[in-house]
Amino acid sequence: MTTDRLFTSWDETHSELWGHQTIRLEHSLHRQPAFSLDDLARLIETYPREHYSLVRTGAQGSSRIWRDGDIGKLSGREVIEAISRGGLWLNLREVSSIDRRYHDMIDQMFAEVAAKVPGFEAPTHQAGILISSPDAQVYYHVDLPGQGLIQIAGRKRVYVYPNTPPFIRPEHLEDCALFQSEVDIPYADWYDEHAKVIDLEPGQMLSWPLNAPHRVENLCTLNVSMTVSYVNDAVRRAQALHLANGMLRHRFGYTPKSDRLRGPAFFAKRVTQRLLRDSKWVKRERAARCPIEFRLDEADTGTVADLLKATSKAASEVASDSRFWK
Ligand SMILES: [Fe+2]
Repeated sequence: MTTDRLFTSWDETHSELWGHQTIRLEHSLHRQPAFSLDDLARLIETYPREHYSLVRTGAQGSSRIWRDGDIGKLSGREVIEAISRGGLWLNLREVSSIDRRYHDMIDQMFAEVAAKVPGFEAPTHQAGILISSPDAQVYYHVDLPGQGLIQIAGRKRVYVYPNTPPFIRPEHLEDCALFQSEVDIPYADWYDEHAKVIDLEPGQMLSWPLNAPHRVENLCTLNVSMTVSYVNDAVRRAQALHLANGMLRHRFGYTPKSDRLRGPAFFAKRVTQRLLRDSKWVKRERAARCPIEFRLDEADTGTVADLLKATSKAASEVASDSRFWK
């Protein structure tokens, strides 16, 4: 843990705007030794298989598709080299649970925010490291926890949309809560006119309001980013409400009318949600997972060796479940 402040130019306006508006902040995390190329390469080589996703992306202009892969016997540097050639991204999920250094960074970061923003807390937080190709993009989606995006290397453009209809509707958040995964939410080009569009460089971070939909385009450079998410009481209440309303809608055909976060109606929904949260139906709906379909080839970091031949059926199933990347 560093004794220096991680936010290097926090001012009063940031304290006022945090959580309410999309704001870009300056940070020093990209200068931490844990983000050096050597340390990232070592992290990749030792990362538990069940905690990373290596994803091959479709050709530009093709329909959305992603396939899960394996880094095989490549060194960490070779994996990064392969990603730099295009068409791949690597998500080291839950890195803050795997490696204490990243946990401590995020802990300090949120402690700095809590010291500046009255009433804010992030008792539970999680971070992942995303290493992505120069041509990669994240499609329009929404996340249930509070979110931030920390840029370490490379440049990317982030579009953040209002967290209100028509950009995001209650039923989208309900589906996210029910199925514990990203769901396809409708997107139209004209939404961009209402987005905040912000370019991120190393040493910059973006924070946006809860449940604001967003999408990301890499700007022709290899990107290293850290995604952070947090849960506090306000986030937990909102998630419980989405889950309960989703249950009512999907299981009982009832269209929820209340989105109140307090009072008897909320309490009843929370009880319903707890009773049904682990029901067989929910478990079954959440069970779909993608198989490992390719492995990076040791002989040539520019190619991937298919483990499975994706049938068009499998491809369309994956595509329908995908949230991002071309
Ligand atoms: Fe996101």
